[in-house]
Amino acid sequence: MPKEKFKVTPWEVKGKVDYNILIRKFGTQKISDDLLERIKKHTGELHFMLRRGIFFSHRDLDWLLDKYETGEEFFLYTGRGPSGHTHLGHLTPWIFTAWLQEKFDVHLYFQMTDDEKHLVKPLSLEQTTGFAYDNALDVLACGMDPKKTHIFSNIEYGKTIYKEAVKIAKHVTFSTAKAVFGFKNSSNIGIIFFPAIQAVPCFLPSVLEGKNIPCLIPAAIDQDPYWRISRDIAPKMGYYKPTQIHNKFIPGLKPGGKMSASDPSSAIFTTDTPEQIEKKIMNAFTGQQPTAELQRKLGGNPDICTVCQYYFYLFEQDDKKLEKIFEGERTGTLLAGEHKADLAKRVKDFIAEHQRRREKAKKIIDKVMLRD
Ligand code: TYM
Repeated sequence: MPKEKFKVTPWEVKGKVDYNILIRKFGTQKISDDLLERIKKHTGELHFMLRRGIFFSHRDLDWLLDKYETGEEFFLYTGRGPSGHTHLGHLTPWIFTAWLQEKFDVHLYFQMTDDEKHLVKPLSLEQTTGFAYDNALDVLACGMDPKKTHIFSNIEYGKTIYKEAVKIAKHVTFSTAKAVFGFKNSSNIGIIFFPAIQAVPCFLPSVLEGKNIPCLIPAAIDQDPYWRISRDIAPKMGYYKPTQIHNKFIPGLKPGGKMSASDPSSAIFTTDTPEQIEKKIMNAFTGQQPTAELQRKLGGNPDICTVCQYYFYLFEQDDKKLEKIFEGERTGTLLAGEHKADLAKRVKDFIAEHQRRREKAKKIIDKVMLRD
């Protein structure tokens, strides 16, 4: 096999990701048409992120549905490393999580890893815990059910989390953690322990309820190494293995690479002003020819066009309308200026609505946060 030109870890995503290679390398399963049909039987319709293969891979989702069909309710678990403001990439799994929560009417546990981000970034604990609150507003703004959503910062819910983390950590050797996460001698010892903390919510509802409850984790595939550890230790501790559904990465606004907070001009943040959004999108990379004349004559490539990809991932949920946009790009009838201006309007409308929901979330956030 040729040497891979990309890298996917929980802390770094580099290069053009080949998702088929990742499925093989991580040992996950592709979401099949049969599985999609099975989901549809329960949800009545398929979310566009499932139809389009944005959620593309899973672990044991069929097992979870077996359990559900015999009357065992599951819970959802997902999270955020609060190192700054939330961007559109982070919202992708959360929008889908809100849909799953609505369709299956289940509880959601949402972990804010303010500890992790302090350990791996040049940020104080006060800063990351502050961002945990800021980011929690974005979670609620995605439409989670406040009565069934439980958000917590690891620091503020530390007493409960730590007790379970210690029990988990006892089953994970340094050599396993090193092999899974690539830790080095220079890694600080906090981050070496941290995978036990991210594993805790996979089992926490089972601990709190005193019975085994199946867990489904919707998240991008970069988080998968954590679940390998969690799945490994689950049977040793008498728990069900947590199940996963993985999404692909929404690209950045520049050529290649995912949307990343470390390059703010590549990302649209939920706190951006209309002017900032307009500027970023008008400077975005498209798959078009260098001049309008050449674009009309030769057409462009929607697969590498970030503007087309934004419609695909979030901003055009109607498949027919999406195909028309892609066709316009391919045949050269859609020119870059109009293409970007249309997207900028959609994104500005979306963020304005999201910001209104964020404001409303401020009134209920205290009821939704778990603390010791
Ligand atoms: P974090 O803050 O890096 O990412 C939050 C969520 O966003 C996903 N994600 C993306 N999805 C699509 N396109 C992108 N460009 C993109 N960038 C990030 C991530 O996969 C994640 O789902 N350690 C975690 C926090 C965490 C967590 C969890 C995440 C704790 N428990 C359980 C998922 C599930 C972190 O730093 O996520």
